[in-house]
Amino acid sequence: MSPDPAHRIVVAPSLLAADFARLGEEVRAVEAAGADWLHLDVMDGHFVPNITFGPALIKALRPHSRLPFDAHLMIAPADPYLAAFAEAGCDHISIHPESGPHLHRSLQAIRALGCKAGVVLNPSTPVEAVSWVLDLCDIVMVMTVNPGFGGQAFLDGQLAKIAALRAAIDATGRRVALQVDGGVNAATARQVIAAGADTLVAGTAVFGAPDYAAAIAALHHAGEAA
Ligand code: DX5
Ligand code: ZN
Repeated sequence: MSPDPAHRIVVAPSLLAADFARLGEEVRAVEAAGADWLHLDVMDGHFVPNITFGPALIKALRPHSRLPFDAHLMIAPADPYLAAFAEAGCDHISIHPESGPHLHRSLQAIRALGCKAGVVLNPSTPVEAVSWVLDLCDIVMVMTVNPGFGGQAFLDGQLAKIAALRAAIDATGRRVALQVDGGVNAATARQVIAAGADTLVAGTAVFGAPDYAAAIAALHHAGEAA
């Protein structure tokens, strides 16, 4: 089956699972291997129980890639840092509703910075958390693990949430990426695509694989037999 470009699955390798001693090289490698976006997990040790990196590191990576930089902010508050992430070269900035009291205002701020705006739902966060701000979303992301760490097991209870969001997005008539993050591999990708997802984040399944191109291709084609 030849892929329909309008319905192609987007694959966003998560740098969290890369070799942190060779980040520039790793970014170049996944781009050459067919990645569509680069997923950047920003953690503050407060919103989630882990600490990763911030705008300075993202800025240093920017010259190494032409891929859209897809920032996933697991920080609270997020608002004071949005401009720094945009200036560092992030193309997409996704935030959790729990990171601040005014999600609508935060999404407006991201768009005013010239970035695509996303909302991320934790496993315990209901679909309704995004319902009234869907018009400001370019991306809605469903966490299929609790955020904070790579390599966790996929939570299949979230499949119903993905399906509900597919329906909500379709009802808008707008293009909004429906992204899934956590425990995504070729097998679980097939399930999330069947539920309606079109964008896959994968850390371990790409950077933990011996052949990045084969791993990314497996995710691109995971839905074809679904
Ligand atoms: C977890 C991060 C994920 C993580 C996914 O908080 O948001 O992006 O890197 O890692 P895997 O694909 O290994 O579950
Ligand atoms: Zn993430």
